[in-house]
Amino acid sequence: MNEIFSDQTLLETKKVCKTFGSGKNAVNAVIDVDFQIHQGEIISIVGTSGSGKTTLAKILLGLLKETSGEILYKGKPRLLKNQKERRAYWQNIQAIFQDPFSTFNQFFRVDKILNDCLKLQGLEHISQKEKTEKMQDACKFVNLKYEELYNKYPFELSGGQMQRLMIARIFMVKPNILIADEPTSMIDACSRSTILDMLMKLREEEGMTILFITHDLGLAYYLSDTIYIMESGRIVEKGPAEDVILHPQDSYTKQLVSDVPKLHEEWVLSY
Ligand SMILES: Nc1ncnc2c1ncn2[C@@H]1O[C@H](COP(=O)(O)OP(=O)(O)OP(=O)(O)O)[C@@H](O)[C@H]1O
Ligand SMILES: [Mg+2]
Repeated sequence: MNEIFSDQTLLETKKVCKTFGSGKNAVNAVIDVDFQIHQGEIISIVGTSGSGKTTLAKILLGLLKETSGEILYKGKPRLLKNQKERRAYWQNIQAIFQDPFSTFNQFFRVDKILNDCLKLQGLEHISQKEKTEKMQDACKFVNLKYEELYNKYPFELSGGQMQRLMIARIFMVKPNILIADEPTSMIDACSRSTILDMLMKLREEEGMTILFITHDLGLAYYLSDTIYIMESGRIVEKGPAEDVILHPQDSYTKQLVSDVPKLHEEWVLSY
């Protein structure tokens, strides 16, 4: 756990709402969410399926437009009006999603996918040799071999390779904020810990600020400085990980904590 993070607020939402559909079919997926990410902080958002976590993540990324509310990056309203502004924003914030298949354009080969990361950084003018070196470095970081993969399409990769390729992209773009939306849900326990190790290495080596989205309260407790609990579109509780888990105030949080008895026993033993 990272006890010390800076006071500087990177990303902030004020009363953000997202409603899908209208009239009788309206779904209030995100309701009045106030949220802050500080430089260097590790945050987890925990909540059951359908509580609005991915919707909130997509709003933070600028992939979905909020219905109302305000979003500030480094204290200023973020600008996403045109492609240039969006690219500038996406240098700061990137995500790894639940489903690696949805992350990549299936018609682009691996070399194009990685090359696009260089473009995002404004590095399209460096020599081909330098580009290749950067792509090789990124693959090395996640234990993939560039030479074996560069001319493959995403559908030719295994699930684990795709997960690693997602992290290789993050390594290349080096965003300030990384949102990891259940990045480990599709893979086995062994790959899961490897992926988490890679994310924590990114954090240590690149100073990335990470927002985890998970169902796993134990993981959230283990990894995060701050936990937000989300239920039916609302943040029902937030605070330092220890406070939220050891002294939950909200009834929904209490229920989540009591559903993980093993977690509780382990702390009792360690105290
Ligand atoms: N594009 C969409 N159109 C209509 N409704 C949507 C859309 N995306 C999400 N929803 C609805 O918004 C609510 C929140 O969904 P969301 O995917 O954010 O939940 P989640 O917390 O990420 O769940 P999970 O843990 O299963 O991933 C759900 O009721 C979902 O059906
Ligand atoms: Mg989700």
